[in-house]
Amino acid sequence: MPRNIIIDCDTGMDDAVALLLALRSTELNVLGITCVNGNVRLERVVINTLKVIDHAKNPVPVFAGAESSLIPDYSEDAARVHGTDGLGGIPFPDPKHKVSKEHAVDFIVRTIIEADSPIDWITLGPLTNAALAIRREPRICKNVRMLTMMAGGVHSGNARYMSEFNVFADPEAARIVFDSPIEKTMVPLDPLFNGGHLNKEDIAQIRSASAEKPWCDMAARIFERTVRLTHELGRPQVLDEGAVSPPDLHAMAIAIDPNIGTIEDYQVFIETRGEYTCGMTVVDRRRYDRVKPQKDRKDVHVVMAVGQKKYSDLVLKTWLS
Ligand code: BDR
Ligand code: CA
Repeated sequence: MPRNIIIDCDTGMDDAVALLLALRSTELNVLGITCVNGNVRLERVVINTLKVIDHAKNPVPVFAGAESSLIPDYSEDAARVHGTDGLGGIPFPDPKHKVSKEHAVDFIVRTIIEADSPIDWITLGPLTNAALAIRREPRICKNVRMLTMMAGGVHSGNARYMSEFNVFADPEAARIVFDSPIEKTMVPLDPLFNGGHLNKEDIAQIRSASAEKPWCDMAARIFERTVRLTHELGRPQVLDEGAVSPPDLHAMAIAIDPNIGTIEDYQVFIETRGEYTCGMTVVDRRRYDRVKPQKDRKDVHVVMAVGQKKYSDLVLKTWLS
């Protein structure tokens, strides 16, 4: 029986492949996709998301949400990594479907509150919509089975030394979500270098199915573009030549099957003010002096790594079978 899930995203290239995984998975029933400002402006995020549902051949409803962070100070986007259109400039056709009229936050609150039993929720972008929903209706926390977030970094950041983009883009929202009593899994940047690769051969397999499967075509084009962008931008080659390691895809794979991950439980706090650390996920890994968990503050399940083969098998099986 597939699990019901809501996906919140800021569709750039890695969100797009994560959405394709969810929309083709037999384990998940996607109730709706909510969009948030992030990698690119909200309006673009919505267009990109609509293009993805077309390619997935699973036109679930798409909702537009927050147009800026809670405190609109963080004007930075991630166009440097995802291209100004968020999809690396790949000329995908204009979307066939339209965005729904309901606001993303209304959809999230309504769907979770009305669910007969606790449902899954995943965020792949800044946590603005999630924080607004929790603030609007705190009772939703009890009706979420698991909130999986691509957020943060244990060992390092990307937007700043220790700050990962999704948290850095709206630290106050991240704090509201991390401080809430929701059961949470954090998929940080760490699996990027710890098992989360798809190599040249994996991408070639996806490419070989692209004539009959439009979702494979979209994924292959995005992966191939990601590899070329690394060269064009002169970014350091940290993975094997021709390999990709998209953070949002790790998070979606974990939401589908947490058994592919190495997971450790920690208290996690969000830094909102540090000169060098604003947007850092402070993971309490002290062994001797660890503070007692505060009442009502649950540990976060932190994904330290994913099993390389289990991960690539899950992705390939979902798209190719
Ligand atoms: C995260 O930031 C965004 O650029 C990606 O889509 C991903 O969600 C990685 O830090
Ligand atoms: Ca994202």
